[in-house]
Amino acid sequence: MSNLCTVSFPGTDYPPINLPAHKNLSEHLTIQNSPVLFGCRTGICGTCLVEVIGEIPPPELDEQEILDTLVPNISNARLACQLDLITNIQIRKIEI
Ligand code: FES
Repeated sequence: MSNLCTVSFPGTDYPPINLPAHKNLSEHLTIQNSPVLFGCRTGICGTCLVEVIGEIPPPELDEQEILDTLVPNISNARLACQLDLITNIQIRKIEI
């Protein structure tokens, strides 16, 4: 049974994208299909900073340290390139 997750981008004109669970967003989101930008894709640069609404596993320690540095006041901030997709989520790009 395939487990498709819908990634949507509220507040933008980008249509939702369906991806199998655990697919790496940095391999599937592009400047054509999403508002999210990627740089390093390894959780270091912070370019892919987003707010996430929906169930996802908590960040690893390395990701949490970057989030605490860049956006200490946004509790649902995540690095899109480090995100483990397990269910439908909404993403909003954070401008810093
Ligand atoms: S692309 Fe650099 S932290 Fe995600």
